Amino acid sequence: MQRSIPADLILGGATAAYQIEGAAAEDGRRPGIWDAFARVPGAVIDGHTGDVACDHYHRMPDDVALMRELGLQTYRFSTSWARVCPDGGAPNAKGLDFYSRLVDELLGADILPWLTLYHWDLPQALEEAGGWPARDTASRFVDYALAVHERLGDRVQNWTTLNEPWCSSFLSYTAGAHAPGRQSVADGLAAGHHLLLAHGMAVQALREAGAERLGITLNLTVADPVDPDSASDRDAARRIDEQFNRFFIDPILRGSYPETLLADVGHLGLDAVVQEGDLAIIGSPIDVLGVNYYHGDACSFEPPAEPLLQDAPTDRPVGSPYPAADGVHMHPRGLPTTTMGWEVQPEGLTRLLRRVHEEYAGPKGVEIWVTENGAAYDDEVVTDAATGEARIHDAERVEFLRAHVGAILDAIDAGVPVKGYMYWSLLDNYEWAWGYHKRFGIVRVDYDTQERTVKDSGLELARMIRERTL
Ligand code: NOJ
Repeated sequence: MQRSIPADLILGGATAAYQIEGAAAEDGRRPGIWDAFARVPGAVIDGHTGDVACDHYHRMPDDVALMRELGLQTYRFSTSWARVCPDGGAPNAKGLDFYSRLVDELLGADILPWLTLYHWDLPQALEEAGGWPARDTASRFVDYALAVHERLGDRVQNWTTLNEPWCSSFLSYTAGAHAPGRQSVADGLAAGHHLLLAHGMAVQALREAGAERLGITLNLTVADPVDPDSASDRDAARRIDEQFNRFFIDPILRGSYPETLLADVGHLGLDAVVQEGDLAIIGSPIDVLGVNYYHGDACSFEPPAEPLLQDAPTDRPVGSPYPAADGVHMHPRGLPTTTMGWEVQPEGLTRLLRRVHEEYAGPKGVEIWVTENGAAYDDEVVTDAATGEARIHDAERVEFLRAHVGAILDAIDAGVPVKGYMYWSLLDNYEWAWGYHKRFGIVRVDYDTQERTVKDSGLELARMIRERTL
């Protein structure tokens, strides 16, 4: 059955600075934590770095032209802190120039710019001064946010403070799987709280500076018990829900950490960093909640017979990112998986959107946008017999895209006013600890030649935008 895509559902693509820009030492950019982490032996597969990445810094006008060709309605990108405020200090005009040119190109192509201020690239100098476990980093973030706003605020309407703070706290400071690779439960909790504080402080400062549409992007999961009748499995699912979802969404949209979460992790280092007044700042009103969804989790304290693929490929020992859920295991449910080992579970997105709308965003009048969703598959380039052109028939990604847009339509039918969808990612790019080994793009990047080739999934997204049908 053909379904129609509402005219007011904005469709586009997403990327992030360190994953695509390259030009790591150009025009005054200084190292960030990923530049340093990528050089730690064994931290990233094959020692891949973002030094060149997709060379987007030099190819930006062509990349925007490609977006225009596809008809993208919006483009979500991030600004690099290490480019805009090298070493975390005074603004660098040349760094800001790049984003100013990008925004002009986008507006010229009639593409809505969707700007994220922090997509995991803390200046290394700030990490050396304590990183996110240090409270002062939140103030430095506000300085940086205001510098970007001062330059782009006349043209950019949509401001996202942070991308996936769960990753930049627990995956980075507790598990050590992401930069800066620390492994400390207390540091992860302090980082999580200070990221939230940085978000709230930046929302207040940007609002005062005139920004009208402010928000944050969270990676959220649907945590189910393996056996709904097992009290132990239900407790495992509660812990994942609290330490993945509610640690972030509750303070932001309800102004408090859940009591049960505090009972689990307060004494591990959270209580020590929360100061009076922090939660009021963190709960400052926002306009937009960005939801990133890849898959749900079936949780139990019992290990599965066949474990799911681990989240990080590193040779270094990686800890659990859950401060107080060490014994929880994620079970496969027999669903198809992507090359990340992630299960393809579109119905989870419908359930997630309903919950977020009913319990959090709806009552506060906050808009919901799906700011990321996508899949990595090993693509094969074939030559079209008739035209001699390169083609990528990524049927699995086409199916993934269609199924998840369908899941959003289901949520809309159920009364959730979802406003937009950004596919992750526009381009194949640097997949963090997996380096260039995982391809998420609807556009293939040949890293030897930097040639871009639109995959069938890119053609399908373009078709959806043009024809508004699924
Ligand atoms: C979430 C992150 O925001 C993005 O940087 C990453 O590449 C994708 N998920 C895929 O893992």
